[in-house]
Amino acid sequence: MKEAEETQMRIVVTTSLRPTPIQVSRASEMATWFGATFVPRGGRSLAQLLQDADAVVVAADPAVIHVRGVEHPLFFHPSMAHQRLKRLEQGESDRLIALAEIGPGDAVVDATIGLGTDALVFAAAVGPEGRMVGIERSPVLYGLLRAVQAYGSEAHPREARLLQRVHLIHGDHLDWLRSQPDQSVDVVYFDPMFREPVRESTHMRPIRPVAWEASLAREALEEAKRVARRAVIVKERPKSGVFEALGLEPDRTTGRFAYGVWRRPG
Ligand SMILES: C[S@@+](CC[C@H](N)C(=O)[O-])C[C@H]1O[C@@H](n2cnc3c(N)ncnc32)[C@H](O)[C@@H]1O
Repeated sequence: MKEAEETQMRIVVTTSLRPTPIQVSRASEMATWFGATFVPRGGRSLAQLLQDADAVVVAADPAVIHVRGVEHPLFFHPSMAHQRLKRLEQGESDRLIALAEIGPGDAVVDATIGLGTDALVFAAAVGPEGRMVGIERSPVLYGLLRAVQAYGSEAHPREARLLQRVHLIHGDHLDWLRSQPDQSVDVVYFDPMFREPVRESTHMRPIRPVAWEASLAREALEEAKRVARRAVIVKERPKSGVFEALGLEPDRTTGRFAYGVWRRPG
């Protein structure tokens, strides 16, 4: 999603064809999280609704988002978080958690929360006594996670409960970071959209049409270094040139992705 598209994206929230009264009241509540208009379904097909909107959110469980011109609908699913959480439970280590040295009671900011896969693993690692903040610029992705927090998920109840521990913020991470005191969280994490979508995971494909696609701003990294007590981590392709440009040390030089790390000296 480019800047012009974001301002123009028309989102409507509706219900299934035969909604229950609860669905109707949820749909109108959800509309505020999506920055959308609530439109009663009125027997119309999705194709008909998409004639006047860029995205149609159907307020069911799960909430399903249909984007005009995009074949696959978008809905909440924990993706790799499911296996990663299981491994953590069994006492095994997680690459990202180990690298960020995150433990119970820590304060972690996921500055690009997306569908929340990494944030769920962070939330489990910091535990109920920790603090998790998740920032998302896309109104569609923010609205989707907000709905899971509010109404849970029949298919993924455990992940929905973990997501409830995340303080969700809709906006640009640079604005949020600028407003924070020095060294006020332990770790800040960035996973911006990769420049090269060719080998993109199936998890990421439905997100791209609604995600904020700009690369990580140098200023956001500098603000993150100011706000983080311990570390800032950036996920990118190892050969993208981003780590060299930002002066970060990648944990791997080959493979599908690497984590570039900055640690506070001393
Ligand atoms: C690759 S996805 C993140 C995936 C996430 N780590 C997960 O596990 O599901 C990147 C997300 O960051 C969001 N994003 C990109 N730039 C942003 C910014 N400046 N502020 C807030 N969110 C941003 C995008 O809209 C997108 O949802």
